[in-house]
Order: sequence, then C-alpha cells, then structure tokens
Amino acid sequence: MAELRSRRSNLAVPGSNPRFLEKAKGLPADQVFLDLEDSCAPLAKPGARKNIVAALNEGGWGDKIRTVRVNDWTTQWTYTDVIEVVGGAGAELDAIMLPKVADAGQVQALDMLLTQLEKANGLEVGRIGIEAQIETAQGLINVNQIAFASPRIETIIYGPADFMASINMKSLVVGALHPDYPGDPFHYILMQILMAARARGVQAIDGPFLQVRDVPAFEEVARRSAMLGFDGKWVLHPGQIDAANEIYAPSQEDYDHAELILDAYDWATSEAGGKKGSAMLGDEMIDEASRKMALVIAGKGRAAAMQRTSSFTPPEG
Ligand code: GLV
Ligand code: MG
Repeated sequence: MAELRSRRSNLAVPGSNPRFLEKAKGLPADQVFLDLEDSCAPLAKPGARKNIVAALNEGGWGDKIRTVRVNDWTTQWTYTDVIEVVGGAGAELDAIMLPKVADAGQVQALDMLLTQLEKANGLEVGRIGIEAQIETAQGLINVNQIAFASPRIETIIYGPADFMASINMKSLVVGALHPDYPGDPFHYILMQILMAARARGVQAIDGPFLQVRDVPAFEEVARRSAMLGFDGKWVLHPGQIDAANEIYAPSQEDYDHAELILDAYDWATSEAGGKKGSAMLGDEMIDEASRKMALVIAGKGRAAAMQRTSSFTPPEG
C-alpha cells in the first residue's frame, strides 16, 4: 500500500471543453480523468479526442495522475478513442479508464489493444494502466474476475449514476442516502467493489456526487466510503476537491499514531527492545495485527505526503 500513488480526488474533465481542460491543470486534485464518455455529446467526441491529445502533450499537469475515460465496448467509439489517444499522447498518459465494464473479457480486449499500441508507438509495454468502472449489475457480479483480468488494473471504480439506472433504483439523488431506506443503500455495492480491489491489491475509488453545490452532502457521502477503506472519490467541481483530499487522507492524529505504532512495534520486536511479539504503547496493546493496520494508515498518509508531528522514544530501562 505504501507505494501506491495517492488518488484521494479524481477530477472529471469533459474532453469537449478546452477551457476546462486548461483550468484542470492548476487545480489541486491528485488525479484527473479527461472524459470522452458521458460528459461528451456524440457529435463532440471526435473533437474531444483531439483536445485531449493536445492537452496531454502540452503538459503542465504537475504530478497528477493523467487518465482518459474512453467509451464502453458496446459503442462504436472505443477502439478509435484508444488508438487516437494512445497514438497521439501515449507517453503523457498514465491510464485508460474503461466504463461500464461487464466482464473480464472487456478488460482483456483493452489490454491487448494497449499492448499493440505501446509496441507501435515505441512505449514500454505495460506502462499504461487500466481503471475499471463498475456501473451495472453485470459488472458487479463479475467484479472479482474483472479485478484479476489484467496486470494493468490499477483501480476499481464505483459508478453510482449508471449503477442506479442499471438496477432500477427509485431515487434520482445519485450516491445520496434516502429517507425511504433506513440504511445505506450502496453499502453492499461498495463492499463488493472494495473486496475485489483489496483481494487484487489495487485501489478502490468511489464515484461522483452530482449535487455539486452541496459540499456538506458530498462530505457525508465521502466519509462513508472513506470509513470503509476506499482510497478516493471522483470530484465534479473544484469545490469538492479539498473535501476529498482531506476525507480520504488519514487525520493528522491518526497518521502520527500509525507511525508511532510502527516504530514502537519495530522497537519491541528488536533485540534491544526484548524481542517481544506484543508491547504497550501508552494504554494500547499492539502486536503484528496492529502493525498491519498501522501500515495501511501510514501508507495513505505517506502517499499524500503528510509529515509526522511526533516521534517515538524507546522506553527507559
Ligand atoms: C459515473 O460514471 C456514474 O455513472 O456514476
Ligand atoms: Mg457512468
């Protein structure tokens, strides 16, 4: 986990809008995805491919992860999207996002196309990752195979709007809690996606929240998936970025505590510390399982470039 790049906020940018593409470069999101799918009208897609290639080649993205979302394999656009984007800007691209993934075969098809394009364009084979969006009932029942379908898989992403349509959900408030349902209607879906991602060792990303002016509601929804272990969330509006960056990173207190556990456990298990398998850190008993939990929190904090505000001192005597 410690080596994963931070994806707390993933900013959606319509490829058909050059002004938004330019503006996105300066925003503090960990990741951007330049969209050729649902935020681009069919007639605007050919122009959007060109805008995206130009924006990637111009640079100025800092250390953001640069992803392009292509259209899904049931359309007539996918292969041209991939060929134009990778052929035109493959060296400036980190991953392709594949929406509405139905099964492992769709991931493998993209993997093969990417391999050919990398070879044809003198790129290192395997350098472009795949982000798989789960947004249909079919995708969810196949999510475990999808997660293992290619070594390129970097994230499994929840797409609540398409998902709610796919399962005939009654509410139209995407991703939000609903007064007619006593619990969290998305818990099951989020957990399935999280299990598949964790079993495969990749990141789990929560999807969009459409009421873009209601930041407190965004925060409430984001806290739910962050609590479960999700690594980040889409942001559709600059106003959602800071909230996502804060919510998907550990709090300073939790980060400091995790680093302390790691140091204290290291010390306790060492020769000097008495080769102990469990030890006390203040009032808390820690052991190997505590170390594993602490590694997750510390990994997220380190990926987000957090700094420690305390240090470990071995106990006297
Ligand atoms: C995102 O693509 C969604 O459908 O929610
Ligand atoms: Mg969608």
